[in-house]
Amino acid sequence: MQATVRRVEECRVCGANDWLEVISFGDQELANGFLPQAEEYAEPTYPLDVIVCRNCWLMTIRHTVDPDALFSHYVYVSSESDLILDQMRHIVDVAVDRFGLAPGDLVVELGSNVGIHLGMFQAAGMRVTGVDPARNLVEIANQSGVESIPDFFGPEVAGRIRSGKGPARFMLGRQCFAHIDDVHNVLDGVTTVLAPDGVLAIEVPYLLPLLDENQFDTIFHEHLSYFSFGTLVRLFAAHGLRVVDVERAPVHGGSIVVYSSPADAGREPSPAVAELLAVEERRGLNTERPYREFAERTTRVIDSVRTLVRELVAGGQRVAGYGAPSKGCALLQFCGLDARDLEFLSDTTALKHGKVTPGTHIPVISPLQARANPPDCYLLLAWNYAEEILRKEKAFLENGGSFIVPIPEPRVVTAESPGGQLPGLNAAA
Ligand code: TMP
Ligand code: ZN
Repeated sequence: MQATVRRVEECRVCGANDWLEVISFGDQELANGFLPQAEEYAEPTYPLDVIVCRNCWLMTIRHTVDPDALFSHYVYVSSESDLILDQMRHIVDVAVDRFGLAPGDLVVELGSNVGIHLGMFQAAGMRVTGVDPARNLVEIANQSGVESIPDFFGPEVAGRIRSGKGPARFMLGRQCFAHIDDVHNVLDGVTTVLAPDGVLAIEVPYLLPLLDENQFDTIFHEHLSYFSFGTLVRLFAAHGLRVVDVERAPVHGGSIVVYSSPADAGREPSPAVAELLAVEERRGLNTERPYREFAERTTRVIDSVRTLVRELVAGGQRVAGYGAPSKGCALLQFCGLDARDLEFLSDTTALKHGKVTPGTHIPVISPLQARANPPDCYLLLAWNYAEEILRKEKAFLENGGSFIVPIPEPRVVTAESPGGQLPGLNAAA
């Protein structure tokens, strides 16, 4: 069923209507829309065009798909990878050690998924409430004892939480802020329930590594905004929130966690705030150039990955995908690689098994099944876990298998060249 689409005219952060057109990926299926196996597929497609606001330098996509179509039944379960769990524990430590969160305090999480992170706060003695529009995930959270509300977060839900449980000392939004269209409404919700000395921690994929490392596959319909730090500082300030700290986090290809607090709470910003703003200034994020250059590199990498896979397949190799993240589905669509090129994708998420990828219709199987019949080469779609995965798949490599790591530039990893080799076609380019 075709969902409603809104064409963005006014910038969701600053309200201006002056856009730089960066790159168009054409019409694309929804990257998280895994489908049951079928004879024929009739999937709706939606335009995917990247634009940048010339006033506040928000990078965004031109068309937003109705969030009900994207999020009310969500197959993305927060990864239980070591990297992500470590990051969640780290944020709990920061909340306690740096911001004085104590047992009994209320923690509210936006986009709380199955409640893993809130479970950690609960174990430390805090009271918790999660909010997430995905009913299937909220049900899992509630069953595991993490109280969660199936809804989109905003002033109404925030008001209900505040009257039932009092103000929140700590609020959390990990990897969900980029999915939100009406960010001002969500921040109105935050200021409704946040305590006068409370802290909001927002973790988003960071624009800088996205541009520098050609992470074009993280651009898909679910991700509306690609934030620089400067744009976030400006956005929070519009809601009376002062950014008091920022840190880089090694998750999802490079993210930032931005900590803010009501401006009149008297918390002083750490030096990291001015430092990162200066980095962005030097990098020219408030100019057109880095966006234009990103678009050029993206076009080139897409061509290289397609050629590399096709050459291997033509040479008789069996190629499959490692991981079936949404960004992998996006990458396959951008490259035009489908079930004729890749035999299957191996993924640890049970919800995805037996389904096929959106648009490209490649079957997703379990790692157990994949290990019983391994391909010659894996295209590493979950490249953000490259280190963890290459370590785990040592035996596959030692048995002569190889990995294509597509990002930032395609390279081929084998047991002999664990650092990866640039394929000939790149050297020529
Ligand atoms: P994410 O980048 O959104 O966390 O998605 C990563 C996907 O990759 C997720 O579907 C799980 C999958 N995955 C594997 O199949 N094997 C692995 O070893 C890891 C770390 C992830
Ligand atoms: Zn703007």
